[in-house]
Amino acid sequence: MTAPIRVALVGAGDIGRGAHLPALLAHPQVELAAIVEPSPVQRALIDAPGVPVLDDAEQLLADESVTAWVVATPPWVTPGLVRLAVEHGRHVLAEKPIATSLAAAREAYGDLPPETAALLQVGFTYRHDPAIERLAELIADGALGDPLQVRVIVYDELDDPLDREHAERMRATLAHGLPVIHEGAHVADWLRVLLGPEELALEHAWSLRTDPALPADNLCGASLAHPAGHRIELEIGWLLPAPVAGEITVRGRGGCATIDVAAFSLRVESRAETAELVGAGDRTTRCFGRQLDRFVAHCRGERPTTPTGRPAVPLLADGLAALALSERLAEAMERGAPDRTAGGAGGPRDRPGAPAEATR
Ligand SMILES: NC(=O)c1ccc[n+]([C@@H]2O[C@H](COP(=O)([O-])OP(=O)(O)OC[C@H]3O[C@@H](n4cnc5c(N)ncnc54)[C@H](O)[C@@H]3O)[C@@H](O)[C@H]2O)c1
Repeated sequence: MTAPIRVALVGAGDIGRGAHLPALLAHPQVELAAIVEPSPVQRALIDAPGVPVLDDAEQLLADESVTAWVVATPPWVTPGLVRLAVEHGRHVLAEKPIATSLAAAREAYGDLPPETAALLQVGFTYRHDPAIERLAELIADGALGDPLQVRVIVYDELDDPLDREHAERMRATLAHGLPVIHEGAHVADWLRVLLGPEELALEHAWSLRTDPALPADNLCGASLAHPAGHRIELEIGWLLPAPVAGEITVRGRGGCATIDVAAFSLRVESRAETAELVGAGDRTTRCFGRQLDRFVAHCRGERPTTPTGRPAVPLLADGLAALALSERLAEAMERGAPDRTAGGAGGPRDRPGAPAEATR
């Protein structure tokens, strides 16, 4: 039997402790070798008996047997840690977004040789869900028609005035970019997984701050056009006081398909079928587990594929492509302007000082 891979978890905050840690502890081919967490407050919450807890990732380098890191740190910290790991030959599964701007990403990753960059898997967790994979298959087969109307609505991170840790974390995150940079990393990745790598024309974008005390706008949206004629509407929001149902909807002449983002269940009503795909267990456990399966395979030099035969592991190029779209959207959203270079047709929002030039 193959020996388990010795993995370290770097960053044991909300998602590190809440989703990566259980996945790592449950995986039969993973031995959790160490956890790195500098914050004493977060360290006190770690429940992983017998696993050494360190306060600096550099300490991991002393142990050559720890060949893989799962990096679940804020995106303004992630690039330095990823670079440290891959330069020392460690495989890394790094949380999205891989940086908060393309400039920061290029600085961190731009000069990595291809074989070093190939050690990085980007944490686009939900692309691994069977629902997204089935939806990609339906679109690729033309079962829903062509062109398509696509709507992606994601509202997350409820405003809870009693949860001060969450409020501070969200403020710190918003200070590094609109929700489209953070939450939107998944959305940008889904669009590429579902519709392909073609550049999208941005026709309209908006953002809104529901609370002037927030460091950035917390609701945002955009209308885009795909060169094949598909129309895409996006809405991404944080910090509303009540939940808003999230969905990925694809409609065309052949049928309609909807993923309920909370459960990641897929409902298809097409000319060929009426079907419901409900994945096993809860969305988080399922997707972090599947993502880790693929990371283990990637670490072993395997090249896992999706049911449509595409590479299943998102690499640096995928992380950069998602960030490029997120950043382009964020710039246009903040300005309320269309992206004229990519085919938009309107003028800038009448916000004082909003520049009229094109996005890119
Ligand atoms: N894949 C997903 O579905 C998903 C879901 C939520 C969050 N995320 C991403 O995960 C990342 C972390 O988000 P979070 O909500 O858990 O944030 P968090 O602030 O709760 O956790 C980050 C942790 O990293 C630690 N940290 C900071 N600097 C460090 C360093 N140098 N070495 C080791 N640890 C360090 C912090 O102390 C903190 O405990 C973000 O990039 C976020 O976008 C991904």
